[in-house]
Amino acid sequence: MDCNIYEMIFKRKSVRRHDRNLKISDDELEIIYQKMNTLVPYDGDIKTAFLIVPSEKTSCNRGEYCLAGYSEKKGDYLLNMGYMLEQMDLFFPFLNVGACWQGLSKPELKKTDGLDYVIMLSFGKSAERNFRSRENPPRRKSLNDIWEGEYYKNVGKAVKLSPSAINSQPWRVKSFESKLEIYRTTSLFPLYPRPKMHFFNTIDMGIFCYILEVCLEHEGFGFERGETPGQSKGLIPVTSYNIK
Ligand SMILES: Cc1cc2nc3c(=O)[nH]c(=O)nc-3n(C[C@H](O)[C@H](O)[C@H](O)COP(=O)(O)O)c2cc1C
Repeated sequence: MDCNIYEMIFKRKSVRRHDRNLKISDDELEIIYQKMNTLVPYDGDIKTAFLIVPSEKTSCNRGEYCLAGYSEKKGDYLLNMGYMLEQMDLFFPFLNVGACWQGLSKPELKKTDGLDYVIMLSFGKSAERNFRSRENPPRRKSLNDIWEGEYYKNVGKAVKLSPSAINSQPWRVKSFESKLEIYRTTSLFPLYPRPKMHFFNTIDMGIFCYILEVCLEHEGFGFERGETPGQSKGLIPVTSYNIK
């Protein structure tokens, strides 16, 4: 059975508690490794590495394992990490594996192959009932708060379910007939110091871009990433999508 990644947008949620009687099987772990080895980068020029470690080898006490992301620190590496790890976050529910982004915990191993630790996902086996269904969607901003213009609103309705640090939902989109411009807002209440907000919210934008691409594909649109949009008040330009 193939994973319908679009459906997983509606099933996924942050799973922080796991039933200790349930365990990821060796076969499932093998499937997880296979998926991890096929992650598509946002920017293929940035070197990355991913390691699965038992949760005890991290400062996070959730789940059976953590999937830690390491990267060269250059260019859009945070966007790239969000984009890549979200591919795993959306894949896990297919196996009834519950995952949670862990922005505050760290693995023991801070470097691998000269690459620095960036962020990780904790994960562990969960029961089907621990996931979401279309009938109980997550708490998110209304589409009008994040989506300007009348175009591609069906895409907007699904992509707005993307996860973000402290559910901050920093994404803002300007929609045009054949283009979407993607921005990060600067007007969020600063729950963390500015550098930490930048760190989290840039990863969030990578997550959003990946889910946006899944949604565009699902709706049958051809697209390519275009130029970074120009400056706009209160918004940090991230990228744009030209849509056919
Ligand atoms: C970059 C990032 C970092 C996060 N860090 C943590 C964390 O340290 N601890 C935690 O419990 N949840 C963390 N989360 C999970 C968010 O709180 C969660 O995704 C958000 O509240 C939306 O809820 P949902 O994932 O259930 O849809 C993080 C999420 C993201 C995207």
